Amino acid sequence: MSPQSPPGRDYADDSDTVHHYMTRLGREIDRGALDGLTTQERRGRLEGVVGKLLVQDRIALSREEEVALVRRVVDEAVGLGVLEPLLADHSITEIMVNGPNDIFVERAGRLERDPSRFRDEEHLYQVIDRIVSAVNRRVDESSPMVDARLPTGERVNVIVPPLSLSGPVVTIRRFPRPYSLDELIGMGSLDGPTARLLGALVRARLNIIVSGGTGSGKTTLLNALSGFVPDEQRIITIEDAAELSLRQNHVISLESRPPNTEGRGEVTIRSLVRNSLRMRPDRIIVGEVRGGETLDMLQAMSTGHEGSLATVHANSAEDAVTRLATLASMSDLDIPFLALRDQINSAVDVVVHLARYPDGRRRVEQVAALSSRGRDDFTLTAVTRFEPEPVAADRIVRGRWRHLPLPPDLERRLTVAGETAFGVPPDGSGKAGRTAPGALRPLVELSGRAGPGGARPGLANPPELGGGL
Ligand SMILES: Nc1ncnc2c1ncn2[C@@H]1O[C@H](COP(=O)(O)OP(=O)(O)OP(=O)(O)O)[C@@H](O)[C@H]1O
Ligand SMILES: [Mg+2]
Repeated sequence: MSPQSPPGRDYADDSDTVHHYMTRLGREIDRGALDGLTTQERRGRLEGVVGKLLVQDRIALSREEEVALVRRVVDEAVGLGVLEPLLADHSITEIMVNGPNDIFVERAGRLERDPSRFRDEEHLYQVIDRIVSAVNRRVDESSPMVDARLPTGERVNVIVPPLSLSGPVVTIRRFPRPYSLDELIGMGSLDGPTARLLGALVRARLNIIVSGGTGSGKTTLLNALSGFVPDEQRIITIEDAAELSLRQNHVISLESRPPNTEGRGEVTIRSLVRNSLRMRPDRIIVGEVRGGETLDMLQAMSTGHEGSLATVHANSAEDAVTRLATLASMSDLDIPFLALRDQINSAVDVVVHLARYPDGRRRVEQVAALSSRGRDDFTLTAVTRFEPEPVAADRIVRGRWRHLPLPPDLERRLTVAGETAFGVPPDGSGKAGRTAPGALRPLVELSGRAGPGGARPGLANPPELGGGL
């Protein structure tokens, strides 16, 4: 559409109009004049120029239409174009661009198609270049897969043909907002007794693995759990893309580095885990283990850095433990399988497994203690389990968390650490207290809250390869 089209059309949604003014803007401004300005100042300057062009052209626009069009043109000129309004919408947690014409977003755990689109493939490539050049990378046939980050913290993955048969694909994950355990309880992701138990486990320095599928909320829970680490301890966090935001005073955050365009300069999670051992950590928190660093992490967990935390991509608590063995075997040290089992049995105390349910909710599906010892087969003992009910017509997943007795060993470690006020009396009143050691009855059964929407009962995260970004 040309800018002379009849009034009443939504100019801001018309990519030709936006393109027209962007081209004219490019001709009007002296690029040098923008040097040294902050992004905000630069935007202000450009908005002024576009506003002037619109006045010159005398097109009939309401004030709102004008503001929207000016913003779109400037988004296109200095920002990420059609992605900018989506990034500004905080109800969106994920943006998925599947080629120029298909944009999907995730809101409240559910996927929706968004009406916006890129003008054409070239336009999408321009936006991709803008994203990846900010992290000194490029995307082309020889380097068709890149992880990047927006200045505002969002993780971005780009994959283009020939690897992607669906055109250039961009996946943007909003920087996860930190939630406290209380907020997670409020959202129905776990119940109070489970939260109190998890807090006690962290304070008592048990080693905890948080597992789950992609986007099941592992990092979010890890962040919430880390809030229980006492302030006087020195915590080292190690991540591929720093997402954890700990509130303690004494936190050192380390971030790995991908190789540069010449394939050099990579610093792996594994080197960071090893380096962290020389930094006198009280606790090590690894965002996600997905390779040989798992062995270093397990060794750290069983040699003086108790109370460490990590996440792993897995489809069940059992799968998480098996995956740890597989990942640890990817280390360059040739460790026999039975020795690895020994290592895992002695390092890992508890697995907290998360799942994304068909109603879009993320929930703690299970808390399980790893109760096997030495070289024995892995034995997980569930201490908390979410039990969904058959789904009713409203398609909402309802259910409850069933609380089972703690294995004596775990109970003893909590008692020794003075953590005696996390349980729930057998009358289920929800007050703090605890059952006698080894009592073989559920502590309490509570209803799980559920939110709007819904689908079939069961889990929504079928097996997937690899972890998150
Ligand atoms: N319990 C929850 N309830 C609602 N939203 C949540 C919950 N936990 C996480 N989220 C949201 O889900 C998205 C994914 O969360 P998060 O990054 O923690 O998942 P993840 O399992 O670590 O993902 P990945 O596999 O990519 O590392 C974020 O937008 C986050 O804010
Ligand atoms: Mg994560």
